[in-house]
This record gives sequence, structure tokens and C-alpha cells, in this order.
Amino acid sequence: MANKVEVKDVFKTYKRGKAEFHALNGISLSIKEGEFLAVMGPSGSGKSTLLHLIGALDKPTSGEVFIDGVSLSLLGDDALSQIRREKVGFIFQQFNLLPTLTARENILLPLRIAGKSSRETERYADEVIEAVGLTNWSSNLPEEMSGGQMQRVGIARALAIRPSIILADEPTGNLDSKTSEEILNLLKDCQEQFKQTIIMVIHDAKAAAYGDRIIRLKDGQIDEEVEAYSANLI
Ligand SMILES: Nc1ncnc2c1ncn2[C@@H]1O[C@H](COP(=O)(O)OP(=O)(O)OP(=O)(O)O)[C@@H](O)[C@H]1O
Ligand SMILES: [Mg+2]
Repeated sequence: MANKVEVKDVFKTYKRGKAEFHALNGISLSIKEGEFLAVMGPSGSGKSTLLHLIGALDKPTSGEVFIDGVSLSLLGDDALSQIRREKVGFIFQQFNLLPTLTARENILLPLRIAGKSSRETERYADEVIEAVGLTNWSSNLPEEMSGGQMQRVGIARALAIRPSIILADEPTGNLDSKTSEEILNLLKDCQEQFKQTIIMVIHDAKAAAYGDRIIRLKDGQIDEEVEAYSANLI
């Protein structure tokens, strides 16, 4: 199958006083369409940075990121924001919910911004709301919800546009083990039913095994790469 995402020799360098610090230090990676990749590694190893670059939220210092064979470095701001709006569903570590909108309104917002709001797309959004267990909270404001509920709003918001790429940064970080398992199964369903490509940053090795493949970052480089069926070896 075609490569959905390609990362070619990517560096992301930050200045720290006079010194340079490589948050990403020469990463190359291909992710096939419909693949579920889990990304592990210690805090500060560059996992979120990598997701931000793949999601066109930030630009590499050098190297290139390709989505559907197109180098993001060749695209202007309009084309990049179209990719962020329509192709990528981002589940962040922070939930970034709009405080004045209800859960359902937050979830529908990306559809409305993309001009894709219709009875059919809203019905799918309501299915996602049900799947993440938020039906009874859909008219609550973020301040009226727990951390785990807000996280699920963030997940539903990312999935409701049915993006071809789902980038999830610790999607189960605030959830109890039962809800975590439901969310992981939901992501697996997205992959199996809709052939969505998933890149998920996760600390827990058991959760990482939901992926087809696991990479482990260390100091901004890929330290180890394994097929998930042998995940219990790492
Ligand atoms: N805007 C920035 N300016 C300077 N340094 C940064 C910036 N963003 C990230 N870094 C540094 O880059 C490194 C990688 O950060 P990143 O957020 O990608 O780590 P992470 O693997 O996601 O960690 P965690 O598991 O804690 O979320 C860290 O050392 C961080 O301090
Ligand atoms: Mg992070």
C-alpha cells in the first residue's frame, strides 16, 4: 500500500542560549495508509514534536515531511491549514476546548469550519459522541466536565471529521483503565472500518500493542522499532 506519511531525515533544532538543542535529531520514517503506529519513549524524547511536524502544526529545521506523497515544505499557508482542517485529526495532550461551547458544539466545530456540516456528518459525529461515552454530557460546557470527559470531547472532535490521519498524543492520559480500553478499541475501529492511518504517542506498553508497529524514540532519534506482536519483548 502507498505511504500515507513519510518523514525524511528530519531535524528540529531549538536554540538554548548559545547552544543548539536537537528535539529531533535525524528521523526517517514511513507510515503506510491504514497503518496504526505507536510511538513510545521517555519524556522529552521528541514524541510530541514529531506529531506536530507530521500534522503540519510546525516546520522542521531541516528534512521533509510528505503527506500523500506531497512535501509539506512546498505548500503555502492556505494549503497547510487545509491539511490541518481536513486530513488530520489531532488529539492533543491538552484538550484545547473552547470554554463557551458545549461538548457537542466543540465536537462539531471542525466540521462547521471546514464547511462539511450536514445531517449525515452530524449523525456520524453523534455516533462518535456515543462511542466515547459522552451522550449524557453533550450539552455540558467544558467547565462542567471532568478531565477524562474533556479528553473524550477532544477525541470525539478529532474523529468527527473522519480524518484520513489521526494523530493522538497520549489519548488515554486522563482516563481510567476501562475507558482507556474503550478509546483504544475505538481507534482500532477507525483503522479497521475507515482505513484511517493512526499515529499514537503512548507510554503504556500494553496500549502500544494496539498498534501494528511500535517505535521508541530516544534523544530525538528512533532507538528501536518492533512489530507489535513482539511488543512484550520491549
Ligand atoms: N518550543 C520549544 N522551545 C525549546 N525547546 C522545546 C520546544 N518544544 C519542545 N522543546 C524541547 O524539545 C524536547 C522534546 O519535546 P517533546 O515535547 O517533543 O517531548 P515528548 O517526547 O513529547 O515528551 P513528553 O512525554 O513529556 O510529552 C524537550 O526537551 C523540550 O524541552
Ligand atoms: Mg509530549
